[in-house]
Amino acid sequence: MMPASIRYAVASGAILASLTAEATAQSANVTRAADTKHGATIAAQGTAGGAPGCAQCHAFNGASDGSGAFPRIAGQSAYYLSKQLRDFRSGQRDNAVMTPIAKAMTAEDIDDVAAYYAGLHSPVLPLAKPDTALIKQGEQLASVGDEGRGLQACNNCHGPGGAGEAPAIPYLAGQYAPYIAMELRMWQRGFRKSSPNGMAFVSKQLTDSDISAVAAYYQQVLGAGELAAQ
Ligand code: HEC
Ligand code: HEC
Repeated sequence: MMPASIRYAVASGAILASLTAEATAQSANVTRAADTKHGATIAAQGTAGGAPGCAQCHAFNGASDGSGAFPRIAGQSAYYLSKQLRDFRSGQRDNAVMTPIAKAMTAEDIDDVAAYYAGLHSPVLPLAKPDTALIKQGEQLASVGDEGRGLQACNNCHGPGGAGEAPAIPYLAGQYAPYIAMELRMWQRGFRKSSPNGMAFVSKQLTDSDISAVAAYYQQVLGAGELAAQ
């Protein structure tokens, strides 16, 4: 009979071999190198499947415009950006503008354009500053939370100053206030179903005044001309 140590070695060798085969199969699926040149073409001209050029709303440099209707996407991680596009496709995230656009993209289009925008470090646009009392209230929630209400600090997950924790957690520093406020309401109303125990839970604890305050705070964390982290 085979000694126990050899039987163990044979068995664990088989397990290792099957894990290696699985990992290789997975990486064959996910590690096609993203083509950022193709990503730039999509940003400018759209996709073969009919998605419009992203630059129309997000600008070629990913800073979008100062209206705050469109998120800044420059320098978010490629993982985060492609996850959002997949979420729009699957209905995990629902938006009248982005859902049909994401549906007109292939998996390769998504990876390529996500890699393109992730690689950009575009300066923050100059914007009017909201009042200091609102910013102070927002800073308190962002960095300390509100223990009395069991509300944890946003920066526990979003990193110091809202700089983001790549790859899964986006930066909020320098993001547009109207967009931040809109997303918190999307979670409150169930149009964004990702992060059920994180963002859905947190958003439902926020009052309208909390939302205006954190949104105002994060928009001005970086000064005009600074680059968002990541
Ligand atoms: C007509 C305007 C428009 C065009 C064109 C457009 N977008 Fe958007 N995009 C939006 C709006 C509006 C939102 C916010 C949607 C929401 O609140 O759910 C958004 C959100 C996003 C987000 C989520 C960002 C985040 O921080 O979660 C990504 C990623 C994105 N767009 C990528 C793209 C890409 C890639 C293209 C080009 C293929 C594109 N968009 C074209 C308007 C547009
Ligand atoms: C428990 C961790 C956690 C906490 C606490 C948290 N967040 Fe988040 N947040 C996340 C994750 C994870 C995502 C990405 C969700 C996804 O993939 O769609 C996110 C995404 C967001 C987005 C979307 C950004 C974009 O570009 O679309 C906003 C806005 C946001 N958080 C605001 C806040 C605010 C404001 C607070 C505090 C009141 C907060 N978050 C607290 C984990 C957290």
